Amino acid sequence: MAFLQPRFNPIDRMLVETQRALDTVFGNPPASRPNPAADTPDVVLDESERRHAAGLMRINHVGEVCAQGLYFGQAAVAREPETRAHLLEAAQEETDHLAWCAQRLRELDSRPSLLNPLWYGGSYALGVVAGLRGDGWNLGFVVETERQVEAHLDDHLQTLPEADRRSRDILQQMKADEARHAEQAEQAGARVLPWPVPSLMAAASSLMKAVAYRV
Ligand SMILES: [Fe+2]
Ligand SMILES: [Fe+2]
Repeated sequence: MAFLQPRFNPIDRMLVETQRALDTVFGNPPASRPNPAADTPDVVLDESERRHAAGLMRINHVGEVCAQGLYFGQAAVAREPETRAHLLEAAQEETDHLAWCAQRLRELDSRPSLLNPLWYGGSYALGVVAGLRGDGWNLGFVVETERQVEAHLDDHLQTLPEADRRSRDILQQMKADEARHAEQAEQAGARVLPWPVPSLMAAASSLMKAVAYRV
């Protein structure tokens, strides 16, 4: 396993991975870019709208927790330094998404999913499994994930309360970022994932969405 992260011994690596997991799940990692909704006035939503918007933003926050888990898991076993760098760079932008969604959840008087440790752990394991199949698969997994997230953000932009412009601004920026992540992974040599992998990923994410809307 010496190819994994040659600069670190196994204990160092374990500490780095643990720190990343704790930061994502329990910490409040700062965004490196300004919040896209920073200049958008907030409006008071009625109670049912507020609860619906919070449910959707909790799903999006969980999606970003999963993205961190996936990319860190994939990066841990990536063979080529370029692939690892690509994954870690994408994870940095996902940190912005994570921070923006967390902030919006607070504004909506709500909280992240209580199951975030589970979502992160499951996604990390999935990332490691995908990554062990080789870098083409690794990048193919990124493309499929980002395309599915992009489609799901479109759904949320349809169903979010019209007045919730702050959430909308955040999702629009996330959607543009996810599309770019998919394109960059395609250019870096992603392979197309065979059936039934994309369908299984879609089924797992439907389950996640149904649970995260409430818990
Ligand atoms: Fe994201
Ligand atoms: Fe992304």
